[in-house]
Amino acid sequence: VPIVQTSTFVFENQQQMLDSVQGKSGGHVYTRWSNPTTKNVEEKISALEGTEDTHVLASGMAAISSAIIGIVKGGERILSSDSIYGGTVHLFDKILMQYGIQVDYVDTDELVNRLTDSRDTYKLCFFETPTNPTLKIVDIKKVADAAHATGTISMIDSTFGSPINQRPHLLGVDLVMHSATKYLGGHSDIIAGTISGSNELMANVRSAAKLLGGTMDPFASFLLDRGIKTLSVRMDRHNFNAKYLAEKLEKDSRIRKVHYPGLTSHPHHDIARKQMDGYGGMLSIELESNLAGTSKFVDSLEIFLNAVSLGGVESLASIPVLTTHYGIGEKALREMDIAESTVRLSVGIEEPSDLLQDLLAALDVIG
Ligand SMILES: Cc1ncc(COP(=O)(O)O)c(C=O)c1O
Repeated sequence: VPIVQTSTFVFENQQQMLDSVQGKSGGHVYTRWSNPTTKNVEEKISALEGTEDTHVLASGMAAISSAIIGIVKGGERILSSDSIYGGTVHLFDKILMQYGIQVDYVDTDELVNRLTDSRDTYKLCFFETPTNPTLKIVDIKKVADAAHATGTISMIDSTFGSPINQRPHLLGVDLVMHSATKYLGGHSDIIAGTISGSNELMANVRSAAKLLGGTMDPFASFLLDRGIKTLSVRMDRHNFNAKYLAEKLEKDSRIRKVHYPGLTSHPHHDIARKQMDGYGGMLSIELESNLAGTSKFVDSLEIFLNAVSLGGVESLASIPVLTTHYGIGEKALREMDIAESTVRLSVGIEEPSDLLQDLLAALDVIG
């Protein structure tokens, strides 16, 4: 599919235009509504996720906000896991609250209990797995089943997993979103988001998205399509490299803790093994160090670049308390299992022994 870099589409006559506006001809009218380059990627993502429909938007945040505004009304409530992306928390607490949507947060392990024993009724249950940055795992099927049993729509942020490692819709989750900025795009050169689900739910999401206007640019859709072509081979290498590093680093006495769902020592390893085909390219380590030492460690890395974001072919390292979780109080950090010495690694597709050497050399620097 070519890059159809246009805002509008030309018609021969009014009848042709009307047929497209009414959705009878499948033609495109205006790129904020739909575009052939974007539609091509949407169809590929639906095939990957096993959903009837997918909408691709200009960012992961546009996907989350459009989906929620399309589904949840003022006065209705959302149940969310407390381990979700910081931007999503701000969306919930700063924006949705203003429109009368209340979000209750519970620990990842408490989602099922809260849904089943709840005196509250929730319109939507939102969760993420694996979580950022400590790679906790939520039992996707159990949450989806509990949500269905109580008439709650389930929605997952599946960004860390990618559709290669997990397909939550096939386990019963109603809406699956990705920050396609990450693994789906894969080259750290676009900002994009996806939301997938049944035609029925997606009709509401699409009509909200059309009016909210977080439209994907056709050129970015082309880059996303280019990324998806190599998603499977990239994920194989991300999975391999991260597991290799996690297993090596776990044995190093200078590291207090390694968070990686592929390790048998991970508290949710059994759930991860059941629901994931690979454990992903993200891992976190806790150093035996203070914040100054942790900063020196990250600054000493040569292959791992000092940057936020994740899911690209190149390895990145960041310190959550200085980046994604900056300004969050000590108590909340402790509850999330995040320390000053936690380093988040987005493991790329480079030679794994080079990545290990890079990490060991930086550990030598801090002593
Ligand atoms: C897990 C997760 N969800 C959502 C987002 C938001 O996506 P975007 O930056 O593409 O809007 C991010 C971004 O870092 C993320 O890591």
